[in-house]
Amino acid sequence: MPPANSFKSSRAEEEQCYPLVLELCQKCGNLQLQYCVDEKELFNQYFYITPDSPSLRSHYEFLVRYMFDETYLAPDSFVVEIGSNIGRFLLHLKDNPGVRRVLGVDPAQNVCALARKEGIETICAFFDGAVADVISREHGPAQIIVARHCCAHNKNPHLILKGVHNLLADDGYFVMENAYALNTLQNNEFDQIYHEHMFYYMIRSVQKLFELNDLSLVDIAIVPIHGGSIIFFAQKKKKGRAANPSVETYSRIEAELMGDGLLRDFVDNTENIGNRVKEIVTDVNNNKKSIWAYGATAKGSTLLNYLKIDYHEIPYCVDSTSIKHGKFLPMANIEIVPEEYAWSEPPDYFLLTAWNYKTEIISKVRSKGNSKSRFIVPIPQVTIEE
Ligand code: TMP
Repeated sequence: MPPANSFKSSRAEEEQCYPLVLELCQKCGNLQLQYCVDEKELFNQYFYITPDSPSLRSHYEFLVRYMFDETYLAPDSFVVEIGSNIGRFLLHLKDNPGVRRVLGVDPAQNVCALARKEGIETICAFFDGAVADVISREHGPAQIIVARHCCAHNKNPHLILKGVHNLLADDGYFVMENAYALNTLQNNEFDQIYHEHMFYYMIRSVQKLFELNDLSLVDIAIVPIHGGSIIFFAQKKKKGRAANPSVETYSRIEAELMGDGLLRDFVDNTENIGNRVKEIVTDVNNNKKSIWAYGATAKGSTLLNYLKIDYHEIPYCVDSTSIKHGKFLPMANIEIVPEEYAWSEPPDYFLLTAWNYKTEIISKVRSKGNSKSRFIVPIPQVTIEE
């Protein structure tokens, strides 16, 4: 498969393909990719721009409130975010009464420039021990280090965690949010498996990962964002705050559910969903109806390329991200066009490749006057929404 976010400038441009194989570690229960593409190839110029979305905003609100209520966010905190993208979360956080200042770190130059334009100071780098030392010398220790949906994006997470340990204040907290592997499996989210996602974390495997880096897990929050995510709260081992009992409860639930043929079901459901989506797209084309994709997501590239669906069947994909417009989805070669096309010249069907924003996307499309298009939602089960 080609890297899922490697959008092309023309259909003729060749894409580089790499193996995409998921493995289960028998020692710690982690799911991970067998082959990892070099980070520099994946992230130097990056097309993922955090969208402005109501569900993301309410998720940020929840996370900030939770950190504040549970006293993870101490008064006068210096907060560092790893993989801060265009700074949407830090913009949300920076006016919180507990926060003194915020700093982002992100490896993609184009993304850092956009964050700075919004007034979020951002260091352009892959976060590791050396970057942490520079930040620590210049700004002092961080009370909170946040890493949302990025710790699985590096083949050596120990490099990140070493940096976290160096930069974290002794009484500080590390907050790591990721897709929760249990939800990924339970909800049949096979399209979440792509080269950027090198690790699919479980509570059990993260506990082990933290321990190896002199950190301990004190709390978790399981949240619905991105099809089911988990937020891990960790401290330096020596700090000694007692873990919230929910950690033990949820890891027992996790062990129970993982043992129950879940992986086998996941494989079967992947095939069934794939066959059904392919069948619907073929029928729509045979009946001379039009179908586009909605959301130029990495998940979308994965789904379409797995099903070998290309621009002959789905000519366009609408997306709100302006830097994706005029580009083509890797391999599927589907042209990305502005979202406005979804209401001005609507097709008969949309394949909702951004299914994680289903409710808000459908209500936006309807509010713009498109009452014609039906939505094929692939995950967690194939449904067709009127
Ligand atoms: P994500 O699922 O990886 O966050 O990617 C979401 C993609 O969907 C991103 O490219 C922006 C796009 N999008 C829209 O086009 N319209 C929307 O209303 C939302 C929320 C996202």
